[in-house]
Amino acid sequence: MYLTHLECPRCGREHDAHRLTNLCDCGSPLLARYDLAAVAAAVTPERFGLRPADLWRYRELLPVADERHVTTLGEGWTPLWRAPAYGHEIGVADLIVKDEGLTPTGSLKARGAAVGVSRARELGVRRFAMPTNGNAGAAWATYAARAGMAATIVMPLDAPTICRRECVAAGADLRLVDGLISDAGRLVAELVADADGAVFDAGTLREPYRLEGKKTMGYEIVEQLGWQVPDVIIYPTGGGVGLIGIHKALHELRELGWVSDRLPRLVAVQSTGCAPIG
Ligand SMILES: Cc1ncc(COP(=O)(O)O)c(C=O)c1O
Ligand SMILES: [Zn+2]
Repeated sequence: MYLTHLECPRCGREHDAHRLTNLCDCGSPLLARYDLAAVAAAVTPERFGLRPADLWRYRELLPVADERHVTTLGEGWTPLWRAPAYGHEIGVADLIVKDEGLTPTGSLKARGAAVGVSRARELGVRRFAMPTNGNAGAAWATYAARAGMAATIVMPLDAPTICRRECVAAGADLRLVDGLISDAGRLVAELVADADGAVFDAGTLREPYRLEGKKTMGYEIVEQLGWQVPDVIIYPTGGGVGLIGIHKALHELRELGWVSDRLPRLVAVQSTGCAPIG
């Protein structure tokens, strides 16, 4: 494994990556860092093309040491579709859409869950809890079942019914709160505090590894375009992990020397009904 440490992007402090960690002492989320010089010496971009069509093809750039801990349902390597008619309608000459609906749990959340659960399993987690608006809970419940891990998923009452059902089908401990995801977050914080170390907090941007799963969207876009970067990447942003992950992936590829210096412009879009960032 080429993972070396966790780094705080706010205060710069380094943390041991071999210990289960949530946030930096300063309150910031942490980023996984790799020995990229060693990765560049060990593998060339062409090699990835010979590997299975899932996100684990990038294993040198993922945080799992022992492949027995890899928890997979074949996630990743979703198609890029050229969309000329819609592109023409909105005035974009070469519009391409990445279809993240084609993942095992129906959304990009499968990527974060696959890598987050794999690493949590490797670091000894037996049970985790997380607040969610739906998709992420369904994904983490599914991958927890795959890993033989217990999951407590807390979601608002008005989250989509299908996500609730997915959690129940996966055997998760599903809790519903009459409120928003922030209320679900408060309940998770209580559960984690009361459990005294027995329940891991796997909430969005509260552990470093789901981001590592989501960053593979960035690697895939570049590989699928023949190791070229697009001009612009537009991303439907919820918690922000996907966009931060794509940004991290692009910078890693640049440091590896696998793409040119010019990186794409990243654009976050949110629906008017849910725009905490916009
Ligand atoms: C279908 C779908 N797309 C995109 C996102 C954006 O997630 P994030 O910004 O956390 O990567 C979400 C998260 O809720 C989602 O469910
Ligand atoms: Zn810090």
